[in-house]
Amino acid sequence: MKYEVPARVREGAATPIHDLDRYREHYANAVNDPDGFWLSETKSRIAWKTSPTQGLVGGFDEVKEGPLSWFGDGTLNITESCLDRHAKSTPEKIAILWEGDEPGDVRTYTYDELLAAVSRAANALSELGVKKGERVIIYMGMVPEAAIAMLACARVGAIHSVVFGGFSAEALRDRVRDCGAELIITQDVGRRGGRDIPLKAVTDEACVGASSVKKVLVYRRTGDEIPWVDGRDVWWHEALEQSSDIHEAVEVDAEHPLFILYTSGSTGRPKGVVHTSGGYITYASYTHATVFDLRPDDVYACMADVGWITGHSYIVYGPLANGATTLMFESTPLYPDAGRYWDMVERHKITIFYTAPTAIRALAAKGDEHVTGKDLSSLRVLGTVGEPINPEAWVWYHEVVGGGRCNIVDTWWQTETGGIALSPIAPATPTKPGSATLPMPGIQPSLRTPEGAIIRGPGQGLLCIDHPWPGQARTVWGDHDRFVSTYFSHVPGAYFTGDGCRRDADGYHWITGRVDDVLNVSGHRMGTAEFEAALITVEAVAEAAIVGYPHPIKGQGVYAYIVSQPGESINEASLQAACREQIGAHARIDSFQVVTGLPKTRSGKVMRRILRKIAEGRGDELGDVSTLADPSVVDAIKDGFKV
Ligand code: WT7
Repeated sequence: MKYEVPARVREGAATPIHDLDRYREHYANAVNDPDGFWLSETKSRIAWKTSPTQGLVGGFDEVKEGPLSWFGDGTLNITESCLDRHAKSTPEKIAILWEGDEPGDVRTYTYDELLAAVSRAANALSELGVKKGERVIIYMGMVPEAAIAMLACARVGAIHSVVFGGFSAEALRDRVRDCGAELIITQDVGRRGGRDIPLKAVTDEACVGASSVKKVLVYRRTGDEIPWVDGRDVWWHEALEQSSDIHEAVEVDAEHPLFILYTSGSTGRPKGVVHTSGGYITYASYTHATVFDLRPDDVYACMADVGWITGHSYIVYGPLANGATTLMFESTPLYPDAGRYWDMVERHKITIFYTAPTAIRALAAKGDEHVTGKDLSSLRVLGTVGEPINPEAWVWYHEVVGGGRCNIVDTWWQTETGGIALSPIAPATPTKPGSATLPMPGIQPSLRTPEGAIIRGPGQGLLCIDHPWPGQARTVWGDHDRFVSTYFSHVPGAYFTGDGCRRDADGYHWITGRVDDVLNVSGHRMGTAEFEAALITVEAVAEAAIVGYPHPIKGQGVYAYIVSQPGESINEASLQAACREQIGAHARIDSFQVVTGLPKTRSGKVMRRILRKIAEGRGDELGDVSTLADPSVVDAIKDGFKV
């Protein structure tokens, strides 16, 4: 089933890619002359201090020797692209439109006000001793000050690392230590869905044993009583009050790191994915303007959290670089009821709305009555991101929310890609429910066999990208070897995404999900290894193995197989507590089973393929298990399977 682009999405397009012929033209240009294509894009979009003459230097074949670069001889400060020029041309335009936890609690920053606030914050950071290249952790909820903090870091050339406010003290401490942050920016208490999140108290706990931290800057959100460490802690409002609202942006090289964002892989600890300045901002700006067909009067709303890459690229950097009005939302889709998103669309006349499949499924399950009766006529483009969207949810989004008048852009990308890589372009691309459709200009995807051979035409395989693009991650913080081995060792000369993908006869892409041991639960990316490491801290647990299984709302559920210590019994509360404490509130086990042993090869490797099949309820399709050290454990596990 193919959906043509509705007339009101096609008409009046701002992007030059307003139909499929134009798309093919731009795509071919980017393949034939990547340097020319991207140099021209960056020059027209970005305020450089020294305009670059170089395009790509290095490549996937040479990534072992060191990070590749884009626009390497250019210099800039990305905040001048996001703030100063818009403060000149459209000072009164709303840059950040914030809606707090309570419906209708609204604050706005115009471009003029945002530049002043970021300048004050940048001066305050300098006053606190933050210098170019130093790391700053931002551990906040969804308040405008989180975006201001990010931009202030960029303004002084410091490298920010935003840690999602749901992460535990342990997880926060690991990240502080890994990047050696000297400053943490946090807030007293977070508000979300009517609940309090004790961000400052968690920060204090994380600081125990994190000796790099010299200062903690605290934004006052609720005014609640909080613990205070004299000499270390500083109030945000006091520091800003004392600072000038004029700040000269620090000039940095194109490849100066802009931020580190920790993300989960199939093994070990989360890795600090590094994004740099010139290439990242170019790609965030290009994809944001193109995919959503951003128009001057749009009210653009992305429901992600700034703790994830979507919040970086498509709440803060892409929209602000493009001079857009971007909405920041502090609450959840279900607070106070399942009509919250649609109330906001009506209230703010949102034209572009971007959310995750898990939210769409949860809302569809609550019934159409929360949507119908609201005035959603302002909507033009509906986006989805984070996991595969099932066709039923897609059609509900298209019909019930979009009234058939909007195009849906199912955007596939990753923390590592920096921006959208596969997606419809709103006015140009006919859509198919469940397909991320076609690659963005500049993205050259390939499907591969497990041996790395290229699959041509329709087929299914491992999704790789064969040529560099400006927005891609450059390295893993402090561990370039890990960057190389994670992404460039599977298929020599290509970037391996970790996803499986099918391509149909129209060249449309259908993501089939992760092919590694990474879980995607409600759009949250978590490693099975992280869960397992948390679970074995429980005294009664001898061994643990985690797999994902299909879950109607969350996309994937977390299934735990637990082997207990001899004579010990397992209680669920202790398992959940360990995951909450070691990872965070978003890390919950959906189902668990105590087993006598795990299926292992003779060399001791756990056979997850088998555990996954059993958890999916397909225990009768296991095939040959004779290579296991002890095949009898499989029958015992199958016998004990519930859900
Ligand atoms: C993984 C990346 C990209 C921002 C949010 C997640 C999955 C993402 C889609 C989509 C199918 C998707 C992939 C990918 N994913 N978007 N439209 N269709 N799957 O970023 O935490 O880095 O996770 O999310 O499996 O590898 P992330």
